[in-house]
Amino acid sequence: MKILAISGSLRADSYSTQLLRTAAGLTSLQLWNGLATVPPFSEDHEDAPAQAVHDMRAEVAAADALLIATPEYNTTIPGQLKNALDWMSRPYLEGVLVDKPVAVVGVSPSDYGADWAQNDLRKVLKVCGAHVVERHLCIPRADSAFDDEGRLRDRAAQATLALVLDDLGALVNERKQV
Ligand code: FNR
Repeated sequence: MKILAISGSLRADSYSTQLLRTAAGLTSLQLWNGLATVPPFSEDHEDAPAQAVHDMRAEVAAADALLIATPEYNTTIPGQLKNALDWMSRPYLEGVLVDKPVAVVGVSPSDYGADWAQNDLRKVLKVCGAHVVERHLCIPRADSAFDDEGRLRDRAAQATLALVLDDLGALVNERKQV
C-alpha cells in the first residue's frame, strides 16, 4: 500500500513533519516535500496549471491513501495547505481527492493539539470527496512531545497513531471492495 504523507508546514523544524516521521517508523510511507512549490490557486490558471500542480496531482493520484499532518494557524489550517487542497479539488467532482482514503493528525505547542485545524481539514477533505478516517490524534505541548528517537513520549498517543494507520489501511481495503 502506498501512503503519501503531507505535512501542512513549510517550517524546517516542523512538529507536524516530525509527527509524519514518527508515523514512518510504524508503517511504510512516502513524505511529500512539494508543498512550497505549489503556486497560489487562481481559476484563471485552471486550464493550464503550473508543472508543480501537475506533479502534485500525479503523486496524490498514484497514492492509495494520504496521511496529512496539519499545523494550526489562527484556529484553522495554514493557507499553504488549503491552497494545495484547492488545486487538488479541481476539476469540481473530478479532483484527485475524490474517493481517496485520508487520515488526519496534528500536533501543536498548545494544550489542544491542533484540534480545530484538524476538524476544519476533515470538513474540507470530505467536501472534496475524500473518505476520512474518523479516529482523532491531537498531540499537545509539541515542544516536549517527542523523545530522542522521534517517538511520542506519551505511549497512549503513540498507540493511537498506530491505530490511525490501521484505520487508514482498513479504509483502503474497504474502498477496494466497493
Ligand atoms: C500559530 N500557532 C497556533 N497554535 C495553535 O495551537 N493554535 C493556533 O490557533 C495557532 N495560531 C498560530 C498562527 C500563526 C500565524 C502561527 C505562525 C502559529 C502555533 C503553531 O501551532 C506552531 O507554530 C507550530 O509549531 C506550527 O506547526 P509546525 O510548523 O511546527 O508543524
